[in-house]
Amino acid sequence: METKRSSFSGKIGFVLAAAGSAVGLGNIWRFPYLAAQYGGGIFLLTYIILALTFGFALMTAEIAIGRKTGLSAVGAFRALDKRFSFIGYLGAIIPMIILPYYSVIGGWVTKYLAVYLSGQGHAAADDAFFGDFIGGVGEPILWFAVFMGATAIVVFFGVEKGIEKVSKVMMPVLVVLSLIIAVYSACMPGAWEGVLYYITPDFSKFSFTTVLAAMGQLFYSMSLAMGIMITYGSYMKKDVNLESSVKQIEIFDTGIAFLAGLMIIPAVFVFSGGNEEALGKGPGLMFVTLPKVFDSMPGGNILGAAFFLLVLFAALTSSISLMETVVSIFCDKFKWNRSFSCIFVFLFCILLGIPSSLGNGIWADIKIIGMDFLSFFDFLSNSVLMPIVAFCTCIFVGYVLKPSALIEEVELTGTFKKKKMFSFIIKYIAPIFILLILGFSVLEGMGVIKV
Ligand code: PHE
Repeated sequence: METKRSSFSGKIGFVLAAAGSAVGLGNIWRFPYLAAQYGGGIFLLTYIILALTFGFALMTAEIAIGRKTGLSAVGAFRALDKRFSFIGYLGAIIPMIILPYYSVIGGWVTKYLAVYLSGQGHAAADDAFFGDFIGGVGEPILWFAVFMGATAIVVFFGVEKGIEKVSKVMMPVLVVLSLIIAVYSACMPGAWEGVLYYITPDFSKFSFTTVLAAMGQLFYSMSLAMGIMITYGSYMKKDVNLESSVKQIEIFDTGIAFLAGLMIIPAVFVFSGGNEEALGKGPGLMFVTLPKVFDSMPGGNILGAAFFLLVLFAALTSSISLMETVVSIFCDKFKWNRSFSCIFVFLFCILLGIPSSLGNGIWADIKIIGMDFLSFFDFLSNSVLMPIVAFCTCIFVGYVLKPSALIEEVELTGTFKKKKMFSFIIKYIAPIFILLILGFSVLEGMGVIKV
């Protein structure tokens, strides 16, 4: 017998859970350094315009597919058109690849929170601290398992009692902490210069690659093209306004990314005496540079603890959405029950995450197309598979299913104000841009070009 599909209790629950998925490590460390690298204000502006057009259209499409079919990615595409089930399968592979390595980094964040909570922020400011930690064997795996375990417990409790409840606590705390830290950081003596560096448009740095970088970030940040929004959409009640929910999720996601820039850029700027290089990309910014910055500030240990708590909440709500997507696919496809599916996915992820963890230490010599395990999984999922799935989704919605089928779903609660823009983007603009992103990111990942 079919059991009734779970759902979020209402709009707030849905928006907070989806925003929880969107707001993650990408907002907090990736967005600020991209903004710094690509001309500050001009990057912000490009990003916002893309979010309101592309991001809006793609997110609306995914949520509508989920709600229309009431199924997670694999089942949803099959239900709409059997010939296109492959998009669902491809989309399902992505969270399975991301979840393990994302949780390895989640483990690092958990460890840093523990370090600051036990008052050892000063030790974390040492140059060798991060390298020694991630280069180890047992400790990073242990923290990874703790993070993964916490994710699994929430997913085990289900949509309303697990995900919604946790999001309703974590997301407001995250907003408050972001505001406090951003204000504190932007008001430090000498920080104003950094704030200006962040928000003033530097037109000389604007080029087509700015648009591509902003777009790549947008996809990742809004958790698009990996079945997550389809799955969450399938838990959305029919009487909830889809269009305004998408707007709210976008405001949340972009707002936190903007605040993250305010937290990080001015502080690093002051600390490094205006050296832009200090905003270098990669985990180094969050785990090496920031601890030094905190160490140099009054009250730095408390600030560090608040910061890593914020990052932990952001990462947890994202990993929860990844795990829920995988778990729900197994439940839908094989009719497994939630507990069995959770245990299976947990063990599977631990196994798959171990190479990503060891790749920073004893397995550092093992390279796949020149990358360590973690970078390889990141490259495969974000630079290759995500654009492919996004492209196929647009072609499917634009030309096979037709946008009108999804517009109908959005209009269950009243007129869809931006429906013309929605159809136009999905049919014409998005596919072209997505192909460009795919081309550039693959070439960049393989080291052929430097974007
Ligand atoms: N959107 C999240 C972020 O910005 C990342 C994420 C990617 C979350 C994939 C879930 C899945 O960090």
